[in-house]
Amino acid sequence: MKRIPTDIDPIKNNPESYNVVLIGGPLWGFKGIAPASRTYLLQNKDKIKQVAFFMTRAGKRSSDPALNDLKEVYGKPVLGTLDIMQKDLESPETTEQIASFVKTVKNAKH
Ligand SMILES: Cc1cc2nc3c(=O)[nH]c(=O)nc-3n(C[C@H](O)[C@H](O)[C@H](O)COP(=O)(O)O)c2cc1C
Repeated sequence: MKRIPTDIDPIKNNPESYNVVLIGGPLWGFKGIAPASRTYLLQNKDKIKQVAFFMTRAGKRSSDPALNDLKEVYGKPVLGTLDIMQKDLESPETTEQIASFVKTVKNAKH
C-alpha cells in the first residue's frame, strides 16, 4: 500500500465535539491501514483532541508499521494503540489487551 489518500464522504460529526476519537481499520499491504481511515485522520487531525488507534489483521506480521505511520500523521502523543490478529480475537490475551485499551480510552482526561 502506498498510503495514498482516497476520497471519503464529508464527515457528519465534528471531531472537535468529542473528547476522544478512535480510529481503526484493517491492515492492508503489511504497512498501512485501509486508506479511508488514514484519509480521515489526515483531514481531521487538527480537530482531534485525543486519539487512540486500533488495527485488525489476518497475518502474523504486526501492525506496528501502520500504527507508527498513524502516530506520525497525527504528530502528537496518542492515548494508546491496539493490534488484533483475527484468529486470536477470542484468546484470553487479546481479551485482556482489548480491556486494557478500553480502560485507557475511558480514563482519558475530559
Ligand atoms: C486489500 C487487502 C490487503 C490486506 N493486507 C493484509 C496484510 O498485509 N496483512 C494482514 O495481516 N492482513 C491483511 N489483510 C487482511 C485484513 O487485514 C483482515 O481481513 C482484516 O483485518 C479483517 O477485517 P475485515 O473483516 O474488515 O476484512 C488484507 C485484506 C485486504 C482486503
